[in-house]
Amino acid sequence: MKPLALIMLAAAVAPGQIAPTLKGAYEGIFRIGAALNPAQFEERDPRGNPIIAAQFDTISPENALKWGSIHPRVDGYNFEPADRYVAFGEKHKMFIVGHCLVWHSQTPRWVFENENGEPLTREGLLERMRDHIRTVVGRYKGRIGGWDVVNEALNEDGSMRQSPWYRIIGEDYLLKAFQFAHEADPRAELYYNDYSLENEAKRKGAVELIRKLKAAGAAISGVGLQGHDKMDWPTARQEAETIEAFAALGVKVHITELDIDVLPRTTRQNTADISATAAGTAQSNPYTAGLPEEMQQALARRYAELFEVFVQHRNTVSRVTFWGVTDGDSWLNNFPTRGRTNYPLLFDREGKPKPAFAAVVQKAKTN
Ligand code: G3I
Repeated sequence: MKPLALIMLAAAVAPGQIAPTLKGAYEGIFRIGAALNPAQFEERDPRGNPIIAAQFDTISPENALKWGSIHPRVDGYNFEPADRYVAFGEKHKMFIVGHCLVWHSQTPRWVFENENGEPLTREGLLERMRDHIRTVVGRYKGRIGGWDVVNEALNEDGSMRQSPWYRIIGEDYLLKAFQFAHEADPRAELYYNDYSLENEAKRKGAVELIRKLKAAGAAISGVGLQGHDKMDWPTARQEAETIEAFAALGVKVHITELDIDVLPRTTRQNTADISATAAGTAQSNPYTAGLPEEMQQALARRYAELFEVFVQHRNTVSRVTFWGVTDGDSWLNNFPTRGRTNYPLLFDREGKPKPAFAAVVQKAKTN
């Protein structure tokens, strides 16, 4: 399709009553989803809610199920937001994802300490992990269909991240987490989720990790490629090779947090590591008045390139989830540099579909 036709298709549709829709176009290919914030799953977002209801058949919680949100105190859970998130998904008959059970980030310090503030023993931390997983997965048993069991366990070079989980329990913390999750809901899909797995060194580490987990009997059904992408990274070839590497292990691939950063780099690495932040300059925030048309088209072509790969691998890829609904919702307005104006998603700040929306819909038809 020519760029002009793409613009016309995008302009002709309004959120809420759009035909075609993402989930309609991708029916029978893979699920299409979005990460939701509280205003969205509490139906207080008049711009986002019609889009969510019309466009997506799966949802992820951007923050509500992270340890720090749902289990902020040693003796206290905060279930209300997560309950509302799950109820929202059920109301809209969506496949509901849980994100995430074991992560080094957004996990309170007390998790790793005893009542005297000293590091927990291996047994103590395993007990705490088991209690958390049993409580959270058990509460939503049969309702949350798939869990990111362990998030971001690897370094960029493919070695194990020296997180408190790893240092205190040892490498089998992953196996234990999968065992506890499987015990709590034997029918739930269980995933390992990470970013930058398209880079060879980290991918090799992940392949080895998943091979070992499977050999040890872990009920792992999928790997999540977060997909925090750039305009020039990863290449289509890297993306295809990555999906194929995991397909060869017999696990499904989920694109779990897709977005495309269109702003100039302010850090050296391509990373979604939330500790890698940087100060901004006037040059690093060039599109405060809107995204120029040539950039809109370049973003549409970039989305088309990635979806071409996803669709080609439809037997392995079972879900593509965007990390947010509209550009205004995206974490990339504040990462790696705070207060910028980014354009990483398919819907603009007014909730209107961008040329990239039409490009993604079109890819479902041409394959
Ligand atoms: O909850 C507090 C709120 O009480 C406070 O008023 C507000 C002030 O800034 O901060 C709120 O917490 C923020 C939270 O998002 C909820 O909005 C945290 O500061 C902020 O760090 C947090 O960022 C999230 C980040 O993960 C860290 O958990 C982003 O929204 C979320 O998009 C991002 O998602 C991660 C995935 O979980 C894993 N993969 C990478 C991805 C992007 O970093």
